[in-house]
Amino acid sequence: MLKTVETIDPAFRADVLNGLAEPVPAIPARWFYDRRGSELFDDITRLPSYYPTRTETALIEGMAGELAALAGEGCALVEFGSGSSTKTPILLEALKPAAYVPIDISGDYLREAAAAVDARFPDVAVHPVEADFTKPFTLPPEIDGLSRIGFFPGSTIGNFVPQSATDLLRHFRDVLGTGARLLIGMDRVKPVERLIAAYDDPEGVTAAFNLNLLERINRELGGDIPLDAFRHEARWNDIHSRIEMHLVARRDLGFSVEGHRFEMQAGESIHTENSHKYGPRGARLLLLAGGWTPVREWLAPDDDFALILAQAERERFAP
Ligand code: AVI
Repeated sequence: MLKTVETIDPAFRADVLNGLAEPVPAIPARWFYDRRGSELFDDITRLPSYYPTRTETALIEGMAGELAALAGEGCALVEFGSGSSTKTPILLEALKPAAYVPIDISGDYLREAAAAVDARFPDVAVHPVEADFTKPFTLPPEIDGLSRIGFFPGSTIGNFVPQSATDLLRHFRDVLGTGARLLIGMDRVKPVERLIAAYDDPEGVTAAFNLNLLERINRELGGDIPLDAFRHEARWNDIHSRIEMHLVARRDLGFSVEGHRFEMQAGESIHTENSHKYGPRGARLLLLAGGWTPVREWLAPDDDFALILAQAERERFAP
C-alpha cells in the first residue's frame, strides 16, 4: 500500500529519486533493511555459502577470554548497530562489563535486544540508545568514568566506501573518546569464487534480499517497477577490492516512482551495495586513517576474517 505523504521517509525518497537519476543508477544499501529485508538478512547469515557470520562468531568464542584480560574489569561495552546477534552474549559472558550500551535506529528491535540482555545478564546495566550510529548522538551519562570498548562486528564497515568508512571511524572515536578501544570485524580478500558464492547463493536468498529493495520502493513510494524484469548480480570489483550487488535489467524497460519516469536498457543496472574486503595492511591503514591504532589482531583459519582491537590514541607525529 502506498504510504501517505506524512509517513514517507523523506531520506528514502531522496536517496531513491536522486540515485535512480544518476548516470550509473545507485541506491544506498541501508534501505535494504525494512522488516522483510532484515528477516532475509538473518536468513543470509545462516546460509552455508555466507561464511562471515559463523566465522566471526567462532573467532569471538576463541578470543573473548584474551579480550577480557586486556579490557580489565568494569568496562562499558558500546555496540554500534546492535542486531539480533549471537555474538554479543559471548562477549558479555567473557568481559563481564559494568554496562552495555546497544545503539540502534530501530526502537522496537533495540528494546527487545536490551530486554533479552537484561534477563540473561542481571549484573550488567543496560542503557539502550535509539539512534542512527552514523549521525551525532551522545552516550548515556551513566557510563561516565567507565573505560569504553566499542564493538562493530560483521564487517559492516565494508558497506561504507573508504571516505565514509574513515568518517565513521572518526565519529566512533569522537563518541567514545580518547583512550577508548574498538573491536571491529573486517572481512578479508579471498578467492573470487568464494566471495561470489557468498553474495549469490544457490538458494536465492541474497537475490530475494536485493530484489526486496524494489518491492519496498513500489510499496512505500508508489512505484511500478516490474520486478520480474530485474535479476540479482554479485560482481567482484578488483580496483576497489569489493563485492558489488546490482539489479540488472533483463530487457529495455521504463517505470515511474512518485510520478518521476526512469528508463533503462537491457544490461544496465542499479548498484545497490558495496561490501569491501581487506588485506592486512589495508585494514590497518583504514583504522589508522580513522584515528584508531591497531593493538591486537585475531585471524580466522585461512585468514578468512579478522577481528582487530584498536585504541583511540592522542595523535602523535613521532613514536
Ligand atoms: C551487513 N553487511 C555486512 C552484509 C555484507 O556482507 O556486506 C550485507 C549483505 N549483503 C549481502 N549479503 C550480506
